[in-house]
Amino acid sequence: MRKTRAYISSLGMYVPEKRVTNQDLASIVETSDEWIRERTGISERRFVAEGQSNSDLSTIAAQRCLERAGVDPEEIDLIIVPTVTPDMMFPSTACLIQDRLGAKNAWGFDLSGACSGFLYGLACGTQFIETGACKKVLVVGTDVMSSIVDPQDRATCVLFGDGAGAVLLEPAAEAGIGIVDFILRADGSGGPYLKMPAGGSRKPPSIETIQNREHYVHQDGRTVFKYAVKYMADVSADLLKRNDIDPQDIKLFVPHQANMRIIKSTADRLKLRNEQIAVNIDRYANTTAATIPICLFEYQEKGSLSKGDLVVLASFGAGFTWGSILLRWGL
Ligand code: ACO
Repeated sequence: MRKTRAYISSLGMYVPEKRVTNQDLASIVETSDEWIRERTGISERRFVAEGQSNSDLSTIAAQRCLERAGVDPEEIDLIIVPTVTPDMMFPSTACLIQDRLGAKNAWGFDLSGACSGFLYGLACGTQFIETGACKKVLVVGTDVMSSIVDPQDRATCVLFGDGAGAVLLEPAAEAGIGIVDFILRADGSGGPYLKMPAGGSRKPPSIETIQNREHYVHQDGRTVFKYAVKYMADVSADLLKRNDIDPQDIKLFVPHQANMRIIKSTADRLKLRNEQIAVNIDRYANTTAATIPICLFEYQEKGSLSKGDLVVLASFGAGFTWGSILLRWGL
């Protein structure tokens, strides 16, 4: 008997209205539009308005996703929310979204996988569909990075933005479409290179942690860059090889949008053509768990994807965490 496959049956996204250009940041820290564009490929990003939170963004993305599918929120079985910037430590953002959607038959949880969170969440949701435990799973990659980026640190404040992207997973009725395979990895020894040191049980909030600016993202950019390229390229190559697929046959490669140079170097290692690579980092910067679903939404919207197309998703982030997912597009 054919295994039930999960497929992405709908998508939705939301980014806050407030645009922050490179020039805007150059008026706060010592940087320039030219430096940011050359080193990262970013032109602007969106930041939440005062009082706007993660669940505000992610609820809209989820609503839009369900509306496009014509699915009633009460039909949802499970809500998975990859994020590192929840509204609060608990209750989970998944519970906040569940309530605001009126998804009263759903259970859900947040998932801490940093920039790989969406791939972790997608692979996780897929299992619930494949086993038959769930029929409709929402995966909402969402982050408000402006809440944890040090506005005085030019090495990090230019890199990130806020946004949310949602996908609906359902059992594929047709053979040949859906999530085909995935490889996910973690290496906790990379933890010190990218982290938010305080705010958890190791270093609860105190005057000292605030004075030391430990509630912000800290990273060794060069080390992160190096591993991001190698690991995203290697894991994608392994995944393609074990499925006997030539990289040239991929319709769209959707890498985590962290830095245009990381994206280019990864794609070069895989010997991909420019038209195979999904890019929108110029407009949104790095929205952490949201980059891949937002990118997928936009490429679907502009008609770049057709049913049966081979799509490869790849990510790398704090942990270190990384991975790749292969799918045959089902819309
Ligand atoms: N404007 C101007 N100068 C800057 C800025 C800035 N915004 N930021 C850093 N610089 C300076 C540095 O201070 C340094 O100056 P110095 O030589 O006088 O000390 C110089 O630029 C070069 O710094 P590097 O860190 O070597 O610059 P690099 O070319 O590596 O680019 C960057 C830095 C963009 C952070 C890069 O390392 C990077 O993108 N790393 C990946 C980090 C990342 O994407 N993290 C996100 C989370 S993980 C993920 O999503 C994959």
